[in-house]
Amino acid sequence: GEATIGVIGLAVMGSNLARNLASREGNTVAVFNRTTAKTDALVEEHPEAGFVAAETIDDFVASLATPRTAIIMVQAGAGTDAVIEQLAERFEEGDIIVDGGNADFHDTIRREEELRERGLHFVGCGISGGEEGALNGPSLMPGGSKEAWEALAPALRSIAAVAQDEPCVTHVGSDGAGHFVKMVHNGIEYADMQLIAESYDLLRRIGGHDPASLADVYAEWNGGDLESYLIEITAEVLRQDDAETGGPLVDVILDRAGSKGTGVWTVQNALGLGVPATAIGEAVFARALSCSAEHRDAVRSTFSDRPDVPTAPDGFEDDVRAALYASKVVAYAQGFDLIRAGAEEHGWDIDLGAIARIWRGGCIIRARFLDRIAEAYDDDPSLVTLLAHPYFAEAVRDGEAAWRRVVALAVTAGVPAPAFGSALASYDALASERLPAALIQAQRDFFGAHTYRRTDRDGVFHTLWSGDRSEVAAD
Ligand code: 6PG
Repeated sequence: GEATIGVIGLAVMGSNLARNLASREGNTVAVFNRTTAKTDALVEEHPEAGFVAAETIDDFVASLATPRTAIIMVQAGAGTDAVIEQLAERFEEGDIIVDGGNADFHDTIRREEELRERGLHFVGCGISGGEEGALNGPSLMPGGSKEAWEALAPALRSIAAVAQDEPCVTHVGSDGAGHFVKMVHNGIEYADMQLIAESYDLLRRIGGHDPASLADVYAEWNGGDLESYLIEITAEVLRQDDAETGGPLVDVILDRAGSKGTGVWTVQNALGLGVPATAIGEAVFARALSCSAEHRDAVRSTFSDRPDVPTAPDGFEDDVRAALYASKVVAYAQGFDLIRAGAEEHGWDIDLGAIARIWRGGCIIRARFLDRIAEAYDDDPSLVTLLAHPYFAEAVRDGEAAWRRVVALAVTAGVPAPAFGSALASYDALASERLPAALIQAQRDFFGAHTYRRTDRDGVFHTLWSGDRSEVAAD
């Protein structure tokens, strides 16, 4: 075969990735889709791409130069296994199968192992940036073996977004590391979106802004520390009027936030690893709450008497901006903590600074401050958490008073700001000298003899709660 690389699955993401590959020097791209009509349409619409179109999976495999490389771009799930099997039956030793879907990293670990035993390379590759990114430059998060990375690197580098002259792709780690990191990216995406949504709600309901004036506020914020793709599109969304009603589009969109699962996975894994990724958790729960129509109806009709909304104090907008930035620092810190914990658990050697760098361009959470995160981990690769780095510590300290004012006002006004509040609580808990966890340990010991440790000497202890209440050594 003549094609240097192939793409299977030609829905929007697959088609755009194939076109991106075809537009770069050195790639000849084979394309295949289960329904041939899609392949035909893509090839017809994009003659400039010089696609090698395959009608059958056999043709597709035959059209690939050896060692073969095929990127699977199908809906994540059971369908992926079927496509992998079709390729694996036809591929030969040393060939590479890439899964570019949003796969569960546990599946990726399993698939990599199975294919390795059959002499094939399997690379789970997180791809972020939506349709636009796939076409013009995504952020790419490949896992899999070093060998496979070396073979794939030129093609992946050729299509990735570029930030500060560097392509937004790095070998994340072995087997499922890439999909794990993509999962956390999505969790952070959820938290960032929730935080922005809370800021919008506060500025609207307490600050008295309408969507059009808020569009200006976000556009202005996009010129500072908060500069990011998500802030930029927030301004654009708020500026959009609805053709039918003539009012703001955001006001006619049903307020139930959907999700496809990666945010839930992030939180499930955080729970399993014992990482308090609270801002991501709040974001996932907030989407679920928004979709609980029955509960919302029942509670809304029970409590019609809501707090009076106070008028916004002077400087409220600046306060909200500072609170948003501080909360965002906490959310990202939690996300990076989760990557570190996942890497330890699964034996991946993940360079956190490199992850921040490949997220500076192409992906949904691309943001100016990722540069700062990269610098923080480059300065000190063993940094315990971003909040402890001088730059972020200062950012949080600078915003702290405003952050507290905003959360206090939200609570008083009855405007829900769960992610703002829980990010602040997470910071306060981490910064506290003592936590009431001591009381919880005593309660556990009381009802279940679960024992406790002491602050003043080593060992494990139990108080004879139902006896004479003396303390005994329990180890
Ligand atoms: C990206 C996005 C992308 C997608 C997810 C999240 O990085 O390009 O994260 O993968 O938007 O599917 O979507 P949900 O909000 O539907 O879970």
